[in-house]
Amino acid sequence: MNILIIGSGGREHALAWKIARSPLVAKLWCAPGNPGIAQDAQCVALDVDDHAAIVAFSRANEVDFVVIGPEAPLVAGLADALSAAGIAVFGPSAAAARLEGSKGFTKDLCARMDIPTGAYERFNNAPKAKAYARRMGAPIVVKADGLAAGKGVTVAMTLDEAFDAIDACFEGAFGGAGAEVVVEEFLEGEETSFFCLCDGGTALPFGSAQDHKRVGDGDTGPNTGGMGAYSPAPAFTPGIEAQVMREIVAPTLRGMAELGAPFKGVLFAGLMLTKDGPKLIEYNTRFGDPECQVLMTRLDGDLVPLLLASAQGRLSEALARWKGETALTVVMAAEGYPATPRKGTVIAGIDRAEATGAKVFHAGTALKDGVLVANGGRVLNVTATGKTVSQAQAAAYRAVDAIDWPGGFCRRDIGWRAVEREKYGAAS
Ligand code: AMP
Ligand code: GLY
Repeated sequence: MNILIIGSGGREHALAWKIARSPLVAKLWCAPGNPGIAQDAQCVALDVDDHAAIVAFSRANEVDFVVIGPEAPLVAGLADALSAAGIAVFGPSAAAARLEGSKGFTKDLCARMDIPTGAYERFNNAPKAKAYARRMGAPIVVKADGLAAGKGVTVAMTLDEAFDAIDACFEGAFGGAGAEVVVEEFLEGEETSFFCLCDGGTALPFGSAQDHKRVGDGDTGPNTGGMGAYSPAPAFTPGIEAQVMREIVAPTLRGMAELGAPFKGVLFAGLMLTKDGPKLIEYNTRFGDPECQVLMTRLDGDLVPLLLASAQGRLSEALARWKGETALTVVMAAEGYPATPRKGTVIAGIDRAEATGAKVFHAGTALKDGVLVANGGRVLNVTATGKTVSQAQAAAYRAVDAIDWPGGFCRRDIGWRAVEREKYGAAS
């Protein structure tokens, strides 16, 4: 079959790398793609916001199946446009992507379906939001309702910080995304990502991971899209997974079906493992980036039948198999990230890094006169496996050290929680 992937990041490179290895695939495209993806798929310069152009390309090239990577086209209804044109698509409708596109929508669903999450209220003006924050006390979390490229959440340690965040939202710091604000209880615990493939009725558990959101070692500095991840997350035990499936994922699918917006695609639950059990922090309606890179590295066998089963409502027959090892990815970012990443610096040594056995996924790279250069904030995802998190970490950093890129940097402690556990036992 002919497949088109939408997106251009490390997540999409990992998807392209995995999908290209499927015996079911005749032709693979990616729009717009990047130089790493070009090793696995033919990149096409389509504007992802131009749904008509994507439908027209799919028709002209007999594309059988479209796999959408990022959230923005989902929230904008690209899956609906493709479905309406009779083209099979992996990813939720715009109505179902509200689980990511509106934090207030998800919190209301949690309330209606009795899904464990932090206490909250929704506001459309600052004085009421501040009064609620004052009543709850700090620490407290302030969230712009809509998509804000990962920047709309403030975990405020003081009330003053919370008030500033509330003012910023209503003063337009996040545009329309901040016209409504959710103020939410601060949850304490270990954060984990959990993924399920969904077909509207059935959810197939699809692995856990832990991301590292802060830019600096020891989880310091500003938030980023994610500086590294590993999978599986040892803290996410089979018992916790069963509880999350029962208390969080199943009622979510039920609730979405009741609203007439059955959820298809990948449901990415951001969870806090609190002392009172797992609680939902947020949903995303696509694979995590860089979590996808470690999931694809661990997945044993063909991804395509699983994505098709999600699109076609056949997941109850599907089975995902995983390699019995840990995968860990280190994000290499351009100097200045996340505020002002420097573009155009020359990257060398990827072959040397891959010769160590690692896989280097491209995120923000470009070719300039035939030379590989940085072209974004997060630029490379250096990914390796091992029997333990410590071994996977050592292998990933061996590969990182083989890359010659003076304009880049990375965290040196990806996986630290699990590595400490492996060293000192489960108590730490
Ligand atoms: P979100 O975009 O909702 O994932 O929020 C970004 C980050 O803020 C999360 O990954 C958490 O680390 C943190 N966060 C969000 N909501 C809460 C909460 N209720 N309690 C504690 N931390 C939170
Ligand atoms: N790495 C977090 C995300 O993809 O949202």
